[in-house]
Amino acid sequence: MIREHWKSSIIFVLAAAGSAVGLGNIWKFPYMVGENGGSAFVLVYLACIVAVGLPILVAEILLGRRGDASPILAMQKVALESRASKAWAGIGWLGSIAGFLIASFYAVVAGWAGKYTVTLFSNEFEGADVPQVESYFATLLGDNTSMLIWGFGFLLVSLAFIALGVHRGLANLARILMPLLILMLLGLLVYAVIQGNISASLHFMFDFKPEDLNSDVILSALGHSFFTLSLGMCAIMVYGSYMPKNTSIGKAALAVGFLDTAIAIIAGVVIYSIVFDNGMQASAGPGLLFQTLPVAFEQLPNGHLVGGIFFLLVSFAALTSLVSIIEPFVAYMVDKGMSRILATGVFCVICSVFAVACTLSLNIWSAEPYLIAGLSIFDALDYLTVNIMLPLGGVLIAIFVGWVMKDTKIRRELKPQYEALYLVWRVFIRWIAPLSVIAVLLNQLSVI
Ligand code: TRP
Repeated sequence: MIREHWKSSIIFVLAAAGSAVGLGNIWKFPYMVGENGGSAFVLVYLACIVAVGLPILVAEILLGRRGDASPILAMQKVALESRASKAWAGIGWLGSIAGFLIASFYAVVAGWAGKYTVTLFSNEFEGADVPQVESYFATLLGDNTSMLIWGFGFLLVSLAFIALGVHRGLANLARILMPLLILMLLGLLVYAVIQGNISASLHFMFDFKPEDLNSDVILSALGHSFFTLSLGMCAIMVYGSYMPKNTSIGKAALAVGFLDTAIAIIAGVVIYSIVFDNGMQASAGPGLLFQTLPVAFEQLPNGHLVGGIFFLLVSFAALTSLVSIIEPFVAYMVDKGMSRILATGVFCVICSVFAVACTLSLNIWSAEPYLIAGLSIFDALDYLTVNIMLPLGGVLIAIFVGWVMKDTKIRRELKPQYEALYLVWRVFIRWIAPLSVIAVLLNQLSVI
């Protein structure tokens, strides 16, 4: 069977940016900025994107395109070609399994955003203050029916697009939603400039305050640079495997990295100028989007409509990411001869179990005996995947491409135009990226 490929490198960039731009950019990044002292975090994050994220992004795309198969088989092929052990296929296994775990809690949070879209558009928060919105959110977290309907809604829509295939499903989704997302975000930026406190927001995000730097800030910025670029679990690898042979990997990676970073920064600027305009605090943590922001929107002219558009944007971003989390596993089953629709169904059934467990763990299963190492199932899955599996996948990818894969094979895929740039990338992928990620991993495991 002939594998489908993206029709152009622009489609690849849109699809990969669709994967990268998600809840990580619009929900996590802004609250992490708030929790980690504003500009110090932003600057370190930018450095991590350049020094670790981009080199590994190039490596993942490269592996996918070279292998021209689902991550598990692609890794096997590329390893054999460089006379390395087939065990490197483990990277593909790690990624495909992580997909089930990430998709289950990602769909739940996407569901909250979907629910908020409707709530804001229908002006249910009119005149609400912080305690009221907080209690609305708390009620949602206790309402399993509502969370399951919304979470499964997101999963099923993603699965429908996956089942449609690479062109009709994934490419079309990205081609329509990404431009819309960018337009909505630029519109929100204009609104924030006119209605919000843009200068307070810019100062908070960009004033250089070296005294705020500490190792926690650096480590959380590094960890997040992984999650936000969808690295470490072969999502970008599988998208790379659909990339046409004659397109430039370097340029595509730069475009994806740029879009992802620009969208996170703009989302942060928009959110903080609206939050500060109401004299609210930046350090709200994960509740920033679901507890603080709706109140801030309510204070502004047409706030419920603008807020509705904001949450619609979050929902779109989540959808184009969710499909990429699911695709590595489905691609593997398809390589093994299963139909796409059946493979999607299998994913759905297995993932449902985790998704239900995640949802219940927010309320009736939130205490013993349902805790794993003291964490709820939701938090445990988040921790295990984001803090352990992704960095582990990332470090293995960097080691494989930096140390195991033959230079001639790498050059055949990358076709470097500027030798100096290639050599710089080599240094980053061999040394800087793996060593920094190992530092994060050891820190997560509380070794350092
Ligand atoms: N990058 C997405 C975000 O920022 C999440 C995501 C999509 C992801 N695919 C992934 C994270 C693969 C890790 C691995 O929200």
